[in-house]
Amino acid sequence: MNYENLLTEIDQILQTSNSSYKNSLTKICQLLENRINYYDWVGFYFKNGDRKELKLLCYEGNETDHNIIPFGKGICGQVAETNQNFLVDDVAAQDNYIACSIHVKSELVVPLFIKNENIGQIDIDSHQRKAFSKKDEDFLVEVNRKIADYLINQQVLPIF
Ligand code: SME
Repeated sequence: MNYENLLTEIDQILQTSNSSYKNSLTKICQLLENRINYYDWVGFYFKNGDRKELKLLCYEGNETDHNIIPFGKGICGQVAETNQNFLVDDVAAQDNYIACSIHVKSELVVPLFIKNENIGQIDIDSHQRKAFSKKDEDFLVEVNRKIADYLINQQVLPIF
């Protein structure tokens, strides 16, 4: 996988000045889901105002019932509290997991920080077991860093 090319394309999406932030982040979901064959669902959750919950901003892949996820619940809710990347090789082995689809076998969630504050996350699901590696983690940390800079520059925070 050529992550460098994808990062360049993400820069181009974020530099398209006539696009709303929601549109730009949706395009990033589409790019990642389309171009990396084991990324089967890609979405961005952000903290919902002052509530201790995450809200789905945009995604590419099958529709999900989980538009709102309380902090602490599921892989996403745990990342909201721990501020750590969470790479799950086999979702069936996780007790605290929220299933969006029976096809999902592994998951990777990477938090998005603005000035050291965890304000949201990118969530990737795969239909393959053990789909993700440290390379995906490093790549998604870099994607989120770019998006954080973009959100600061666009002055659109907080998202919800
Ligand atoms: N599996 C996630 C829920 C979000 S869906 O994957 C879209 C979790 O356990 O938090």
